[in-house]
Amino acid sequence: MVSEQAVIKVLADGKYHSGTELGEHFGVSRAAIAKIIDKIEQNYNLTLFAVKGKGYRLQYPLDLLDADKITNHLSSQTRLELSNLELHFDIDSTNRYLNQKNNNTISSGYVVLAEQQKSGQGRRGRTWVSPFAANIYLSVLWRFQSAPAELGNLSLLVAVAVVRALKQQGIEDVGVKWPNDILWQNKKLAGILLEMRGEMSGPSNVVIGVGINVAMPGDKVANDIDQPWIDIETILNKKVDRNALCARVIDDLFTVLRAIPGKQESLMREWQQLDMLKGQQVDVLFADRVIEAKALGINQDGSLRLLHKGKEIDCHSGEVSIRRREQ
Ligand code: BTN
Repeated sequence: MVSEQAVIKVLADGKYHSGTELGEHFGVSRAAIAKIIDKIEQNYNLTLFAVKGKGYRLQYPLDLLDADKITNHLSSQTRLELSNLELHFDIDSTNRYLNQKNNNTISSGYVVLAEQQKSGQGRRGRTWVSPFAANIYLSVLWRFQSAPAELGNLSLLVAVAVVRALKQQGIEDVGVKWPNDILWQNKKLAGILLEMRGEMSGPSNVVIGVGINVAMPGDKVANDIDQPWIDIETILNKKVDRNALCARVIDDLFTVLRAIPGKQESLMREWQQLDMLKGQQVDVLFADRVIEAKALGINQDGSLRLLHKGKEIDCHSGEVSIRRREQ
């Protein structure tokens, strides 16, 4: 049985491949190839052209993820700490996948990447739109000896790592909206979803999910995103090597994660340089009410400092969501 994956790999070059050529290559009939082509269109939302006398061609070539290419780009230190690099064509969610594994039995530094997520998870129960071979969907399992309570600012520190990787691509004007929305000119470029489990006194197992918009297809998929968004190729106006970018993100994440707890202070200072809310008037959305406040920056534990009716209040992520007021 020929897999859809195997056929996509051949078609990824964006050139025409005839049904006869594909059939011979995989040792199946042309009719079997035609069936697989239909399935590819349905399951991966890819557009394929079928032209008589020429064969099948993808609408545009695909830069597929490749574990060897990613590993080759990694620093030697990261390679030592990488316990596994798993690449999936299709998954429900890389975060859910890692959470379903028994976190105590898999080693820290376990990385899962996917070409497509059927039900990508965003923060606060939202969906993360995850079309095939377009963006980066990555999750890492990392184990800390510390207690979960000592890692309250971890999601902010992860944002620092992702911003470092984006800046290295040449993206300016990238900032963070507390706690970890990564924005470019107020449009969402990347998101982070952290899920932590652990004993009261440690250790803590954390699944760190990172989604980065690289080349969102300009079709109905993108219409499902419920906020202003942008992708790297639009910002830079050029093609991006997703394998090199994945490696960079993994490297920058591991650099930050291995530096915790020792370097938390300097990492928090770096976060403060990226703070897009400080000094801004904001709406603070609690479960049952909305208040108006001024954002004053953050505390060392990652909580947000707000000035409301002359009094300072602190908010923790998960309790509230923040909207910048139009000036
Ligand atoms: C957000 O809402 O800002 C967080 C988005 C996080 C998306 C990433 S994509 C990889 C990982 N797997 C998921 O299902 N979600 C995270």
